[in-house]
Amino acid sequence: MVLTAELRKAGRNAGEARRSVTVLGSTGSIGCSTLDLIERERERFDLVALVANRNVGALIEQARRLHPQFAVIGDATLYPELKAGLEGTGIEAGAGRDAVIEAALRPADWVMAGIVGAAGLAPTLAAVRRGAAVALANKECLVSAGAIFLTEVAKSGATLLPVDSEHNAIFQVLEADRLHAVDRIILTASGGPFRTWSREEMAGATREQAVAHPRWSMGAKISIDSATLMNKGLELIEAHYLFPVGEERLEIVIHPESIVHSMVAYMDGSVLAQLGMPDMRTPISYTLAWPHRMVTPAPRLDFAEIGKLSFEAPDPERFPALRLAREALRAGGAAPTILNAANEIAVAAFLAGHIGFLDIAATVEKVTSGLAARTAGPASLDDIYEIDRLARIQAEEVVHLVAR
Ligand SMILES: NC(=O)c1ccc[n+]([C@@H]2O[C@H](COP(=O)([O-])OP(=O)(O)OC[C@H]3O[C@@H](n4cnc5c(N)ncnc54)[C@H](OP(=O)(O)O)[C@@H]3O)[C@@H](O)[C@H]2O)c1
Repeated sequence: MVLTAELRKAGRNAGEARRSVTVLGSTGSIGCSTLDLIERERERFDLVALVANRNVGALIEQARRLHPQFAVIGDATLYPELKAGLEGTGIEAGAGRDAVIEAALRPADWVMAGIVGAAGLAPTLAAVRRGAAVALANKECLVSAGAIFLTEVAKSGATLLPVDSEHNAIFQVLEADRLHAVDRIILTASGGPFRTWSREEMAGATREQAVAHPRWSMGAKISIDSATLMNKGLELIEAHYLFPVGEERLEIVIHPESIVHSMVAYMDGSVLAQLGMPDMRTPISYTLAWPHRMVTPAPRLDFAEIGKLSFEAPDPERFPALRLAREALRAGGAAPTILNAANEIAVAAFLAGHIGFLDIAATVEKVTSGLAARTAGPASLDDIYEIDRLARIQAEEVVHLVAR
């Protein structure tokens, strides 16, 4: 397991001492949940930097409330507004891509990588390269740049703490010293809002229906990914990089109640699972307090009230995104980077009302099948950025054709 050695080292050193923290993507769903936890134990945490992209009003409000040293807005045109909003607070304001990287580079012990999409790759890597403990919510950077990302983690001695509820669950129940005894890793999926819908019904799904996740409250992009099940596909690739288990031993099961967050099956027939109410503050807290635990306001499980838990196999016909992600993982090379980039473009086009729900996976399939075989695997980060760029161009073309 790639995490183990570094985690043990960090675990020995961390104790329950005061911790300095930076939140990349502070105005998002993950960012707000993170700040909620920090605010509840304010005396334990020093805030170094908060980073958002365009939501300058929310960033100003957060900064005035929590008083970080540095507040950064990704969209440089919003700098005057941020500067004016922070006047008299003593908080330094920054704007633009370089300032986002600078925020990640400032010496915080712990960094929440909560920016959505491939835009999170450069700042997350900046935090990794200086050896920080990185709470990894942004799955796209691991999908897009997996092997290269992990090389950087190994080089710097950074600590990766998985935030995604499934990977956090596995992290909690994987007996790191008994990896040889692991039989399978089982990722659970809620099935999303269209779990019981036919393909015909999904063809007419609206943006509002697709973002209305039955269990989790999340940002728009991951909510759409959950509806197509691409989210589970991305998580499959993420799990492959985080945990040392071959693709064929990574299983997915639909679990509509979202109570069992994932499981590890061992060679003796035992299955260890992590359970909890669907509230991201639980996995975030596990990384924030790691290697300890902290109190969270997440609702407690009441088994008698829940009554029963159900599981079913995913349907690859209605949800082709799962197959596409598995194929990309098997193909390796440039395929996961292309899959991720094409998906980001297709999801944005759906959210903008340009294409239908089923066109999302169709677009990803067209781009990956056309481009992956013709593109050499990435040997460097520059290669990743170039493959990502080409895949986005191609996906835009496909979306444009579909939209007409
Ligand atoms: N939400 C969940 O429950 C959940 C669970 C597991 C994993 N994740 C993963 O966590 C990540 C964040 O998800 P989310 O649901 O929190 O997304 P979200 O609500 O859309 O928030 C995204 C955050 O990233 C910021 N951002 C976007 N582009 C940026 C850029 N170029 N530069 C700087 N900041 C940028 C946004 O700022 P603005 O607000 O200014 O746009 C916002 O703060 C995703 O990778 C997702 O897959 C989320």
